[in-house]
Amino acid sequence: MTDSTTADAVADGATEGDTRVSEAGDAEATPASALPEPVVTARNVHIEYEVEPVVKAVRGVDLTIYRGEILGLAGESGCGKTTLAYGLNRLLKAPALMTDGGVTFHDREDGDIDVLALDGDGLRAFRWDKISMVFQGAMNSLNPVIKIRKQLFDVFTTHRPGMEKQAMEERARELLTMVGVDADRINSYPHELSGGMRQRVMIAMALALEPQLMIMDEPTTALDVVVQREIIREIMRLREIFGFAVIFITHDLPMLLEISDRVAVMLEGQIVERGTADEIYHNAQHDYTKRLLSSFPSLRGERGAFVRGGEDQ
Ligand SMILES: Nc1ncnc2c1ncn2[C@@H]1O[C@H](COP(=O)(O)OP(=O)(O)O)[C@@H](O)[C@H]1O
Ligand SMILES: [Mg+2]
Repeated sequence: MTDSTTADAVADGATEGDTRVSEAGDAEATPASALPEPVVTARNVHIEYEVEPVVKAVRGVDLTIYRGEILGLAGESGCGKTTLAYGLNRLLKAPALMTDGGVTFHDREDGDIDVLALDGDGLRAFRWDKISMVFQGAMNSLNPVIKIRKQLFDVFTTHRPGMEKQAMEERARELLTMVGVDADRINSYPHELSGGMRQRVMIAMALALEPQLMIMDEPTTALDVVVQREIIREIMRLREIFGFAVIFITHDLPMLLEISDRVAVMLEGQIVERGTADEIYHNAQHDYTKRLLSSFPSLRGERGAFVRGGEDQ
């Protein structure tokens, strides 16, 4: 990648050109609602892994996520999606280091929060409460020998000290029901649940504190297509009810186009193309985007077949 590409990416964000069409002056560039309100703004984010040799994993990313939208982040393995997500959520750990850039969270109640300036209690109150994350491979991160109840309760004990046991029980059962898991599964151990169910439990945990943004990092990649479809429908339904924004990360661009309002395509640490799902589907500009678009031909046919498929149940 050349420096000029970096400069272009930065200039793109600096002019508030968060979508391709807005640069061309097309009013349709704004997402669904008439006056889009950002929930997170990231500017010129650079993240490195300070190893030998240094890995420049994220290189000058500008990104705005609007309230209530689904933003799809696509790109093949290793392009920096997870690193960027961790950066937005202040989850980076050494040797990862954000060397430049800014991240602002536009809180519904408290106004703008400089995410990079948070520490101690401020950071604890921010994480999971404001932005939650379904981690890559999350369904395998539930502790196999601890019941679902205790693992859900842990979210409340950590973030809602003082919450009564009875209230926790009710809320945990409610959350399970919400994500399509029988509330009595609260008594199960993770190993007694299917992969799809465990992933639903992880989504329940991410929903627990009613965050304004949920980052879902390859939440369905390990699941078979039918279960993927069910879970994605569930996420979209919950988003309708609660109005949180979603950053949905996957290498599967065709699927992403069906569920996202806007899509950003990442390559080698940079966002190389962005636009509404329609724009990307009908008018992809970058060769890399075109390649990603054609990379899952056998799974689904025309756009819309994935989520809509099997709807008559
Ligand atoms: N702990 C680490 N140390 C060194 N390099 C890392 C580390 N974690 C990730 N990387 C590198 O950073 C780049 C981006 O990784 P990642 O964000 O996981 O990509 P993606 O989520 O798109 O697959 C890759 O080149 C990866 O090898
Ligand atoms: Mg990843």
